[in-house]
Amino acid sequence: MAEEKAARLHLAGKDYDLAVLSPTAGPDVVDIRKLYGEAGVFTYDPGFTSTASCDSTITYIDGDKGELWYRGYPIEQLAAQSHYLEVCYLLLYGELPTPDQLVDFETRITRHTMVHEQMHYFFRGFRRDSHPMATMVGVVGAMSAFYHDSIDINDPVQREIASIRLIAKVPTIAAMAYKYSLGQPFVYPRNELDYASNFLHMCFSVPAEPYNVDPALARAMDRIFTLHADHEQNASTSTVRLAGSSGANPFACIAAGIACLWGPAHGGANQACLEMLREIGSVERIPEFIARAKDKNDPFRLMGFGHRVYKNFDPRAKVMKESADEVLDLLGVHNNPTLQVAKELEKIALEDEYFVSKKLYPNVDFYSGIILEAMGFPTSMFTPIFALSRTVGWISQWKEMIADPQNKIGRPRQLYVGSPRRDYKPLDAR
Ligand code: SDX
Repeated sequence: MAEEKAARLHLAGKDYDLAVLSPTAGPDVVDIRKLYGEAGVFTYDPGFTSTASCDSTITYIDGDKGELWYRGYPIEQLAAQSHYLEVCYLLLYGELPTPDQLVDFETRITRHTMVHEQMHYFFRGFRRDSHPMATMVGVVGAMSAFYHDSIDINDPVQREIASIRLIAKVPTIAAMAYKYSLGQPFVYPRNELDYASNFLHMCFSVPAEPYNVDPALARAMDRIFTLHADHEQNASTSTVRLAGSSGANPFACIAAGIACLWGPAHGGANQACLEMLREIGSVERIPEFIARAKDKNDPFRLMGFGHRVYKNFDPRAKVMKESADEVLDLLGVHNNPTLQVAKELEKIALEDEYFVSKKLYPNVDFYSGIILEAMGFPTSMFTPIFALSRTVGWISQWKEMIADPQNKIGRPRQLYVGSPRRDYKPLDAR
């Protein structure tokens, strides 16, 4: 980025000139990298509401316009015209693939979907009623114990192999976590199936009878994967970058991302949102919950509402809402009470001064759970599916950071408000 403008900080009688860097799109940034060295002060920004942690070419979001681009392509176009593995190629390599490149990439992913057979025994250590996210954190982290030939982060060939392995194997691991929770046998991946069909087959087929994936459901599943693939420097992506900045191997970094995504303020919101909609239960009870969400003394929040960046609407939520209607119609699920509550809740909230003034709109997690539940997934599988989808975004951001010659270990500072220096007091003097 060319240095075009400058900012001046006046502090304690001195002036400090700071460079202002201009992006392809979005806000300018004030470059404060030399501030502490020259002025002896830190900036203060808990939650990083005004902080750019890196520069990136992968994903752009505009919170006011409700825009989301993967490598410059609007999410609406990709959701309608592309498919998840093509989106994976785009996020990983920066351009849409040629037909030959796409066939080669899909073949490489397909041929890496099986996990080391020894991993089956690794699952045995978990309780059957473990949350699948707990299993995924453990098993994805354990990939670094099985795939030693792709953990040298300084070798671009090994970085590429690890990326392919993660995109290919995380769906298998997610499906295994689901099957394990059911007490059903693991289902091996099938190379003749596309990525989304393969995931549905590994989740829902049983050895006792044939299982044919409904192509329309597979398309809906694939669209959900695309909508969740990447999202700039969100909490879990920032976790992956920070873990990667220490030189940790890619499997450990992705496991860290999965752990962060699990939180109900982040990827865990899809599970929390559906549980909330069920708790509300009927349109008549919506006002009670709206009042609770507005009550400062009540920690309750409307799950699936609000976003750090989107202050108009989440473009993914719009696509997801359309998909919810399609999938429920396809499945013959009419007058789904949860969907009725969701639509009425959205309508009421969008007319309520509290939500309007705080710019709270449905986010990607508001409708996704309704679709996933209609497909037959339990709420406990909602966040694992988010993690599966986001793996390509995490690994793309990780690769971009590792390949950046400016890459250095992330190490924020603090505003210390603890005790002044004091001397130790022996026990008999206290
Ligand atoms: C994801 O960052 C990403 O890109 C994430 C994500 C991705 O793709 O990676 O988009 C995925 O995580 C989507 C968000 C899923 N989370 C939820 O749906 C949980 C519910 N939402 C909130 O917890 C909240 O909106 C956050 C965490 C999403 C955003 O929080 P912020 O930006 O820190 O905003 P805030 O907490 O400072 O809220 C601003 C105000 C506060 O009121 P005041 O203190 O100003 O009076 O709005 C209120 C909040 O109390 N508020 C809500 C609310 N969300 C914010 N009030 C009621 N219900 C809500 N959902």
